[in-house]
Amino acid sequence: MASTKIVRTADGSDTLYSEQHKAHYHSLHGAILESLHIFVKSGYKHLALNEISILEVGFGTGLNAALTASKANEMNRKTTYTGIELYPLEKPTLAKINYGAVLKKDESIFWKKINISEWNTETPINDSFLLTKLHADICTVNLSDLYHLVYFDAFAPEDQPEVWSSAIFQKLFNATNRGGILITYCSKGIVKQALRGVGYKVERLAGPPGKRHILRAVKP
Ligand SMILES: C[S@@+](CC[C@H](N)C(=O)[O-])C[C@H]1O[C@@H](n2cnc3c(N)ncnc32)[C@H](O)[C@@H]1O
Repeated sequence: MASTKIVRTADGSDTLYSEQHKAHYHSLHGAILESLHIFVKSGYKHLALNEISILEVGFGTGLNAALTASKANEMNRKTTYTGIELYPLEKPTLAKINYGAVLKKDESIFWKKINISEWNTETPINDSFLLTKLHADICTVNLSDLYHLVYFDAFAPEDQPEVWSSAIFQKLFNATNRGGILITYCSKGIVKQALRGVGYKVERLAGPPGKRHILRAVKP
C-alpha cells in the first residue's frame, strides 16, 4: 500500500507525494502539462501507427493513461495499454485527487473509469482504448508481449536506482517492436548511457515547463 499526501502543482492539477520514496508522482510545475508534453505529445502522437500497444512503468494515479485514452478516442486509434504498478493506490486516495474536476470532460470520464477498473483484467475504457492495470514489480515481471511504446515513469534514479538499471532497460528493449520507443522525463547522463548500452538510439528533446530536457529512446 502506498502512503501518500496530496500536493497542488502549478497548472492547478494535483499530484501525490510518496512518503516511502520521498518523491512526487509528477512535476510540481504542472502534473497535467508534464504528462501531455512528455507522454502524449512526444511519445503517443510521435508514432504514426494505426494501432498501438503501450506499456507504462509506474501506473500511479492513472493520469498518463486517462490523457492517452482521450487522445486515442479523439484519433480513433486502437490502443492497448498495460500499466504496471507495484503499489496500487487505494480508492479513498484517488478520490481526493482533483483530476475529476480539472481534466476536460472526456478525460475526466475516462480517468474515473480507469480508477474503478479491476486490476489484472482487460477493461475497455472507450471504443479505442483497452486497459490492463497490472499489479506487478517491473524488476521481476516477465514481459512476454511486444510493445510499440514504453512510458517509463518510475520515480527518479536517485530514489529507486534498481528500476533504472541496464537489466530493466534490456528487458524493455526485448519487449519493444523494432522502430518502437521508450520515452522518459529523466535526461541524466547515466540513464542515457544505460539506454544506449542495451541498444537504443537516444535523442534529447525539449521538456515541459521546469524541465530542460527529456529522453526518447528508439529501438533501431
Ligand atoms: C512517478 S510515479 C508515476 C506517475 C504515474 N505515471 C501517473 O500518471 O500518475 C512512479 C510510480 O512507480 C511506481 N513504482 C515504484 N516502484 C515500482 C516497481 N518496482 N514496479 C512497478 N511500479 C513501481 C510507484 O508506486 C509510482 O506509482
